[in-house]
Amino acid sequence: MRATIDLAAVEAMDAADPLRAMRDRFILPEGVIYLDGNSLGAAAPAVFNELQKAATQEWAQDLIRAWNTAGWFDMPVALGDQLGRLIGAEAGQTVVCDTTSINIYKVLHAALGIRPNRSVIVAEGDSFPTDLYMAEGVASTRPGTVLRLEGVDAPTIEELIDERVGVILVNHVNYKTGQLRDMAALTCKAHQVGALIVWDLCHTAGALPVELDAANADFAIGCTYKYLNGGPGAPAFIYAAKRHHDDVHQPLSGWWGHARPFAFEQSYAAGSGIRRFLCGTQPVLSMRALKGALDIWDDVDMAAVRKKSIALTDLFIQLVEARCGAYGLELEGPRDGNARGSQVSFLHPHGYRVMRALIERGVIGDFRAPSTIRFGFTPLYVGYKDVWQAVEVLEDILRTGAWQEARFAVKTAVT
Ligand SMILES: Cc1ncc(COP(=O)(O)O)c(C=O)c1O
Repeated sequence: MRATIDLAAVEAMDAADPLRAMRDRFILPEGVIYLDGNSLGAAAPAVFNELQKAATQEWAQDLIRAWNTAGWFDMPVALGDQLGRLIGAEAGQTVVCDTTSINIYKVLHAALGIRPNRSVIVAEGDSFPTDLYMAEGVASTRPGTVLRLEGVDAPTIEELIDERVGVILVNHVNYKTGQLRDMAALTCKAHQVGALIVWDLCHTAGALPVELDAANADFAIGCTYKYLNGGPGAPAFIYAAKRHHDDVHQPLSGWWGHARPFAFEQSYAAGSGIRRFLCGTQPVLSMRALKGALDIWDDVDMAAVRKKSIALTDLFIQLVEARCGAYGLELEGPRDGNARGSQVSFLHPHGYRVMRALIERGVIGDFRAPSTIRFGFTPLYVGYKDVWQAVEVLEDILRTGAWQEARFAVKTAVT
């Protein structure tokens, strides 16, 4: 069966795309169709400008003075507020710092600290592994605390939520399947039994509208190197609802979270507000790169991002199923666009080889063991014609059996 949509229709979609001009704000190599912005976002000249300024003017010329004159010290909170606008957080509740893994450790401890008589952490069995590893680490420091998992201890997360649960750590979008959770509904369910909830927004910040305050979320964490394009290893973020600020204590009590960091006191006194989630000195150059990336979002309508994301992913599924359906591919994630993040995964028994062959032909997605080929669609710089061309290459690789070439079996890190 051939797809009902043709190239002319796809080009017309690009011509009518209100986000089309955003692509010019990014650097994309010739000959590459980049469908991995859900792993590492593309670079942007605005990011390089910030990096250049921070290094050559502020660091080189202002030296130590730049902590004040260039606002370096306040950047975690300033960037947090800027990012907060993209995740539905009023100012003063988001801070940019550390890594997602470290921030999970901090918020899980903080949440359990305000539910001291509860001994259960709930998470998803198919969560991104670091979430589980960090939850295990937190549980190991609190005698009697156990980790219960969706898919292991009960089929659904809802069935695990009861009065013993202190905190639920849950992904807004599943990294592998792209399944999107209903944030407001699950948060409400947690609160009905007095549990707190931490949302992992790694696959939604910058991918679709997020409404943390409106959903009454307690905490959230996420990274900035995927859809927010902050660059490799860019600092992560923490959101904590204002109502918890006076009660929370996080265990990484470094001097940046102290109430009076420059008083150099002998013992720790937690700072006020979201600053208490900070630990130590932050990577200023990476923060400045992130600022360049976040500035781009000042000109972006998140509703348009979501609309295009659903259209891109719908188109990809439609074309793959029409043109590659005979070659053993099976849709792994949701068919309903409203239940999907900005990514699409297909299962293929030789997915690793297929992805290696695609990458060699310039179509960059990624592979997740044992058999998922995963494609991310970043509405700011992926167009409808990219989708068309990517499917043409995929069809060719499958039809000709090019993926069977021996060199594609050699394991390298496909991230
Ligand atoms: C859902 C999720 N959580 C956490 C992480 C990674 O955390 P970190 O930045 O600490 O490596 C990822 C990375 O892909 C992720 O997808």
